[in-house]
Formats: sequence, structure tokens, C-alpha cells
Amino acid sequence: MCGIFAYTGGRNAKPILLEGLSMLEYRGYDSAGLYLSDQGVTRTPGAVTELRAKATGESSAKSGLAHLRWATHGEPTEENAHPHTDCDSNVYIAHNGIIENFNELKQGLIARGHTFKSKTDTEVLAHMIEEELKADKSFEDAVVDTLKKVHGTYGLLISYAKEPETIITARMGSPIVLGIGKGERFIASDATPIVKHTKKMVFLEDGDIAIVTPDSHRIRTLKEASVDRKEEEISWDVGEASRGGYPHFMLKEIFEAPEVLENALRGRLIVNEGRAKLGGLESVAKQLEKLDRLMITACGTAYYAGLIGEYLIEDLAGLPVEVDVGSEFRYRKPIIGKKTAVLAVSQSGETLDTLEAMREGKRRGALTLGVVNAVGSTIARETDAGVYNHAGPEIGVASTKAFLSQVTVLALIALFLGRARSLSEEDGKKIVKALMELPELSKKVLAKSDAIKALALKYKDARDFLFIGRRYSYPVALEGALKLKETSYVHAEGCAAGEMKHGPLAMIDNKFPTVVVIPMDSVYQKTLSNMIEIKTRKGPVIAIATEGDVRVAEIADDVIYVPKTEEQLTPILSAIALQLFAYHFAAEKGLNVDRPRNLAKSVTVE
Ligand code: F6R
Repeated sequence: MCGIFAYTGGRNAKPILLEGLSMLEYRGYDSAGLYLSDQGVTRTPGAVTELRAKATGESSAKSGLAHLRWATHGEPTEENAHPHTDCDSNVYIAHNGIIENFNELKQGLIARGHTFKSKTDTEVLAHMIEEELKADKSFEDAVVDTLKKVHGTYGLLISYAKEPETIITARMGSPIVLGIGKGERFIASDATPIVKHTKKMVFLEDGDIAIVTPDSHRIRTLKEASVDRKEEEISWDVGEASRGGYPHFMLKEIFEAPEVLENALRGRLIVNEGRAKLGGLESVAKQLEKLDRLMITACGTAYYAGLIGEYLIEDLAGLPVEVDVGSEFRYRKPIIGKKTAVLAVSQSGETLDTLEAMREGKRRGALTLGVVNAVGSTIARETDAGVYNHAGPEIGVASTKAFLSQVTVLALIALFLGRARSLSEEDGKKIVKALMELPELSKKVLAKSDAIKALALKYKDARDFLFIGRRYSYPVALEGALKLKETSYVHAEGCAAGEMKHGPLAMIDNKFPTVVVIPMDSVYQKTLSNMIEIKTRKGPVIAIATEGDVRVAEIADDVIYVPKTEEQLTPILSAIALQLFAYHFAAEKGLNVDRPRNLAKSVTVE
């Protein structure tokens, strides 16, 4: 999820590239770099301010590449910043995405004498193109033949020192927008840095490779020498362009669910063995085998993901799990033995209470683990081992895509631990299959966005909401309530469906709606009884139910159906529906959904 920008045309490229890059900065990056044909590469940790300070000196280059990195492979250092180059400094590459098979490709290249200067997955591409060029292939053929050997995702910018006017770009999983000006072309990861120069754009499709010069562009695929892609005249302003045309980042990020789920799973499933492969946990595999307890610590939405992790890990791995919010864990004198691991879950990797809870675990002798989105963040650096989310930067203050990713990674950890313990191959395979289906299923929930919006409108005057669920759906109910209250400022309370009769039921009347999370799972009948109890008190009910469940529709006032999946993974699909509900409810009120009052994205104070 890096930001990339390229220019080729008649103007001086350097100021255009630096200005364009600063417009992409809103996504919050950790390092930056620039390639200009007459100056070579300038790279730095930090972002555009640091790059400007470093890229001094006049340039008259008329083309170049620029990159903002959001680290995935390798820490955010100067060496790992893009663009990367080959042994002869002829080929320059800026990349957004992950090359899955980079390790095996890299070993082959090292054996053939190539020297690597970074720890990134991207650098392999520069060396592979170098080899193809040395075999006397054209720039285009060298790129095409290289991409034939690559698995993974990419939005690529490639420059060749001997043909400085030409830039080749390729898209697989990571967006590429081509801007068409008069005698100039722009290429970027989203339309933001382009709209100022031209509104005429082509949105590349997966598998597209474009050969771009100032006056022309030809789009091809690995198989076909030319394909037609229509030019669009967009009407977005800069703000809309940065949100990819969505009215808010929160909605954009909810709609990133399929990609986020793919990214969390990519390269981590061994399908024929029903196992998860988690490179980040390999160094502590022996200690994990001996664990007798896992303590998960996190805050807010990440804490609710942790609660789902508890159900998952106890269910699939038979390992006792405790979950605690960071601010409690760090002060409650937790009992930690030699076989205890403390797992911190955090999108930012900087939440102070989670960090201090993890440090408290470490002081008491626990193995420390992390499920973190921000590479190189404090929690990621200080834990003994961990698994990255690869969900990309989350801009909306209310966490949405990170939550989906956290639950997915916790499911992978549960599978990883489970298969090393008691989980059978057959049951492992069931989970693997269901995980692989999730990205497609998530699209079906997203397709209901308009229907969910209509529902949010129907309930727009309600001032109080109760959210209930059982087992895996209990933390989902808690998260659904948090999402609604933080974006809409209405009172929303989550509770275990079984707890309702112990107090919350007293609040219910015809003006107090309840959202019942009721997938067809092992506790379906019990949740159904709770739903009936609410209806008996004349409480309006919105059900989040499994497609095809007619019984629920007879009782509830409204139903949002989500596709069927394994019980353990229902939280991911139900959560998307609740995220959309919260978003539309708040957006209809005209609230600042991306920046709810009184809240900050990263809570680095107690
Ligand atoms: C709610 C939300 C917060 C965060 C919490 C932890 O939508 O975003 O509750 O989940 O502040 O943040 P991280 O995951 O960065 O540790």
C-alpha cells in the first residue's frame, strides 16, 4: 500500500514529482524516494519534507519516478526505500504491493552473481529485468518476461536509463491510474497527484502493462500485445481523488475489505495440509509448542479482535487464552509463567497502553508476540516475534479494515497453533477453504451497502441501540456498538445475548432498537430466543443473519443477510455489515465520520 507517482513529458520532472508525492502523503508513509535520469536515486526515511531536503541540486530531467513507502518487507530505512535498481544501475523500480515468491527468486539471482542492496521483495525485479536485457531483449520484452515469473501483487513503475522517455507500468492487485496530458503522461497509485494536471485518465485493470511515453501509451497484458482500455474524464477534486471517489476514508477503507483479506492471507496457507505458514513466528516455533497459556492484550477495536482471537485459539488450538485491555493488564499484576506468551494486537503498533502491557509481560518473563499493521512500529520492534497485517495505512479514525485483518490473522494463528497441537488435518482444511473464500464473500456484503444505508435512514432518529450476540458474535456485537457510538455519538451498548436478561433488557421499549448478530451457528437457537424476548417487549430488531434464514425474517423488523461461512469466520462478514451500518448512520447525520470528535487515530498517552 505504498504511494507511487511518475512523470514523462516536456517539463522539468523534479518539482512535478515532489509536489505529486506530497499530495499522496495523506496516507502516512515511513520513507520516500525519487529517481531522475540525470541525478539517479535519492532516498530517505521520513516522507516528502525529508526527501526535498535531501534531493538538492538542479535537475533538467524530463521524466522520473517517485515513491512513498509503507514498509512490508524490511524496515523503513534509506536502503529499503524505493526506487530500487539493478547491479548496473540501468533499471529503476518503484513498487506498491508484495512479491510473494521473492525469496526463491532472490536465491537464484544471488547464485547467478547479483548483489542485493536492500531487504525488500521489490529489488528482485530490477535484477530480473537486468538479466532479460542482457539477453538482448527490448525493454518491453524484458519487463513482460520478468512478470511472467512473478507471483504476488504489484503496481509498478519501471524506468530504463537507456530509454529515459519511456516508463513501463504494470498492475496486479495494486491500483494504477494513468493521466493523459498534452505531450505528457502521469502515472500514480491513485488520482490525487494527477487531477491538478489532467482530468483525462485510464484506470488500468489487473494484468495490464502500459508502455508510456510523453505522447503515447499502449496497454497490453502478458499474453496480448495490445488491449483497449477506455479513457475517462473524471470530475473529482483533489480531496475526492485521494479518497478514490468515496465521500469518506471510512467508506473507502470498508470497501477495501476484499484486498485487505487477500493481503492478510497471501502466502500464509498450505492448502493441501490444512495449515498456516507464518514466517514471523518461525523463530519462536519451539516456545510456541510448549505454551500453556496465551494472554492477549489490546485496546478498543483491537481488543474486540483479541476477544474473537480467544474463541478462535481455544476452539482450534485448545490453548487457554485470556484477553485484557492494555490499560488493565499493565496494572493488574498478571500471573505469568515460563510457558505464557503475551500477544499484543495493534493497528498502529504505538498505542501506549498496549505497548506498556506488552512490556509488563516481557518484564515478567513472557514470550511476547505482536499482530501489528504498521511495520517498524514500537510494538513490532519490541516483541519477540509476530505477524504483520499488511492492511495498508488506515486513515479513518474509526478502525474498520484493520479489524477485519486482525481477526483474519488471529484465525491464521489459531490454525497455526491448532495444527501443531490437536486440530485434525480435515478440520484444518475446512478452515483453510473458508479463509480462501472470504475475500469473495466480503464483496457480497459490500454489495448491500445501499440497502444498509436505507436501513440506517429508517432508524436515524433512534438515540439508543443495543447490540447482542453469542459466542463468536459476542465480540462482534461489542465492536458494532463501538463503531456506531464513536462515529454517530448515539448511545450504543454491546452485550452478550445471554446477559441481556441480567439487566439490559430493562431498557428495551418500542424506541430502543436492538441489533442482533445471529449467524446460523452452534448457538443459533439460543440467540433466536433472545431475539423473541426483545420482540415481546416491543423492541425493534435489526438482525444480521445468514443468507437463506427465513425464520429470522419472520421475527425481526429488518434483516441484513450475510453469506454463509464456517462459524469461526462469521465475525468477519458480520462486522463488515455493522461497519457499513455505522458509517451510513453517521454520514446521514452529516457528521465528520473520518474524524469523530474528541478522538485521535493513535493513542500514545495513557
Ligand atoms: C476504534 C478504534 C480504536 C483503536 C484503538 C487501538 O474504531 O480505532 O478503538 O482500535 O485505539 O488502536 P491500535 O490498534 O492502533 O492499537
